[in-house]
Amino acid sequence: MYQPAITGSGVFTPEQVITNDELVAAFNAYVSRYNAENAAAIEAGDIEAKAPSSSDFIYSASGIEQRYVMDKTGVLDPGRMFPKLRQRNDDEPGIMAEMALDACRTALKAAQRQGSDVDLVICAASNHERAYPAIAIEIQQLLGAGGFAFDMNVACSSATFGIQAAADMVRAGSVRCAIVVCPEICSGHLEWRDRDCHFIFGDVCTALVIERAEDAQGAYFTIRSTRCATQFSNNIRNNNGFLRRTRPDGTSDRRDMQFMQNGRKVFKEVLPMVSAHIGDHLGEAGVRADQLRRLWLHQANKTMNDFIGRKVLGRDPEPGEQPNILQDYANTSSAGSIIAFSKHSDDLGDGDLGLICSFGAGYSVGSVLVERKDSA
Ligand code: COA
Repeated sequence: MYQPAITGSGVFTPEQVITNDELVAAFNAYVSRYNAENAAAIEAGDIEAKAPSSSDFIYSASGIEQRYVMDKTGVLDPGRMFPKLRQRNDDEPGIMAEMALDACRTALKAAQRQGSDVDLVICAASNHERAYPAIAIEIQQLLGAGGFAFDMNVACSSATFGIQAAADMVRAGSVRCAIVVCPEICSGHLEWRDRDCHFIFGDVCTALVIERAEDAQGAYFTIRSTRCATQFSNNIRNNNGFLRRTRPDGTSDRRDMQFMQNGRKVFKEVLPMVSAHIGDHLGEAGVRADQLRRLWLHQANKTMNDFIGRKVLGRDPEPGEQPNILQDYANTSSAGSIIAFSKHSDDLGDGDLGLICSFGAGYSVGSVLVERKDSA
């Protein structure tokens, strides 16, 4: 058995930003237009008028201030309300592969590795732009990696579940150097016309290099242990899929073909699940909460993270102990906790312990206990 370690990380951040004010201005223009176009039906009581959104609500309900996206023009066009992404030919890299390549190159550079050192690519994300061939195999080819590659989807927990899969294979010796990459184009599956959720998501890609600790070229994080759990729930759901055209109204503009959630229920049900999960993981690993230097949590909601931090640590987290990035990136599904890890881990010292934890649709919860090592 070999000790698996995270030896490099990378984040690709799209160039375009949408602030809450820009988002709300476009949404409210869409609402005015919708209500004017449907005035008679609204008047007759056949459909409900849409209510406007507000920046104050978004910030106080979620902690989100802005989000990065691959295309803002389509999202902010009140006559469209979803991104415009160029149709690519089959013989050029897809958009997910292109985002992935950027994040993977940064992670490989941090690990002082080449693409050719990699023998496993896991593309772990909450949506994949096509059914097959796997995006991961396209990334493998673009990186010049060997071995094998596959896609996996556990929604917001895709990254931590991917880390467990890669770490277990490195530990067993079936792979030597893995990349877990999470290209999340959440702008594609967000319903920008629904004020309950139009502010939630952003786009990003993260990548982690996972290899034997003994192969590390510089400072690294040993993966001490991982823990994954799932429990079925319909409270976060997207019904889009390959059977769509077989259904009577399958190709029509249906609300359930985009992200849907019952936010309040998610809040209530997922919080205790996550707190208990982290407690059990630490207990099993023989680590006390007060030994953790840092928590890198899933980035969906600031109040949620404050609650989990308090529950796990038994006190209010100190500044920097539980860094949030959601104010800048919004919820980026599986990538959120990895962005927090990538941007807020360099200051840890030899022997410091930290925990990455994601949670979301499924329900799913994944946690990864890591220990900083200065060098091999
Ligand atoms: N602007 C203004 N008001 C809005 C609004 C908007 N954009 N969206 C909703 N509101 C209103 C609602 O209509 C409601 O009004 P009411 O009290 O008169 O009925 C009120 O604000 C509260 O709405 P609610 O949906 O209950 O807000 P919330 O406090 O639950 O916050 C979320 C919404 C989505 C931010 C929050 O539920 C959340 O983050 N949940 C967990 C999400 C999560 O982790 N998901 C995982 C996904 S990967």
